[in-house]
Amino acid sequence: MLIRKRSEIPSSEITPEKTYIDRRKFIGATLAGVGAVAVGRTRLPSLLAAEGDSGVGFPADDELTPYELITSYNNFYEFGTSKEDPARNAQEFVTRPWTVRVEGEVSRPADYDLDDLLRPHTPEERIYRLRCVEGWSAVIPWLGIPLRDIIERLQPTSNARFVEFTTLLDPEQMPGQRRRVLNWPYVEGLRMDEAMHPLTLIAVGLYGRELPNQNGAPLRLVVPWKYGFKSGKSIVKIRFRRNMPLTSWADAAPREYGFYANVNPEVDHPRWSQARERRLGKFLRIRTQMFNGYGEEVAHLYNGMDLRRWF
Ligand code: MTE
Repeated sequence: MLIRKRSEIPSSEITPEKTYIDRRKFIGATLAGVGAVAVGRTRLPSLLAAEGDSGVGFPADDELTPYELITSYNNFYEFGTSKEDPARNAQEFVTRPWTVRVEGEVSRPADYDLDDLLRPHTPEERIYRLRCVEGWSAVIPWLGIPLRDIIERLQPTSNARFVEFTTLLDPEQMPGQRRRVLNWPYVEGLRMDEAMHPLTLIAVGLYGRELPNQNGAPLRLVVPWKYGFKSGKSIVKIRFRRNMPLTSWADAAPREYGFYANVNPEVDHPRWSQARERRLGKFLRIRTQMFNGYGEEVAHLYNGMDLRRWF
């Protein structure tokens, strides 16, 4: 349903890639640890519906955001709260070896070496929009593995209704954790059906390269229809739970950040509108789409829910 062969992708979707492709040739085999890269491309779901319809607000070709911007303007509070801090402060962050603890309502709880957790899977490339709650957005070619493939191997029990993801706690390496900006470690969570949705990705790279530390190495969540803060970085624990986890931002500011955090231009953040966004590197703001433009794929998950209440 989601993967189209390269030949089926309209050139409008791949135009701005020249630098990327040139760089890919140049970088060659620097993907040690990521494994083989299958360039199975995913179309931007729902984008095609927007083509020719200027009212939707997205440029028809949804240009890729340049690598330099994606990797230099980041939110990763463990490395500081300004956008430039992560790129500056995360360079020495050690991401190998890396262990992910799997626990809770699951048949195969264990401490998994990252390479063992990922090994049977081949990362594939998927271009997704990322919409940050602060009003900026990006279009990113991720390398990742559908979370559901990993979950299926771990075999959650029938009691598992939510999955909780926890980031590393290590104030030695993460200077931002020496200040109580958030209740460390960073925790995010999904309902089980959201986690099992084919769009939900565990990213291990971007632009054909290993994930830079500032973007959440060695593995991060990517949930493209939700605000960026749901995409927890540098994950060390996956816990299957009966109950909804208390996530970091809902804990810090419950009136501002809910558990669901679906991109919704109709529900304002208490301090600002969410109706428009600015692509990194672009000057003009564009209209934000419901579910970040992935409504066709995900709206059914929320049938019958009042999205103003469950924001
Ligand atoms: N994960 C952790 N552990 N710590 C964070 O501060 N910030 C979130 C999310 N994941 C964050 C995190 C927010 S607010 C956003 S918008 C995205 O990461 C940004 O991802 P990017 O820096 O790759 O663009």
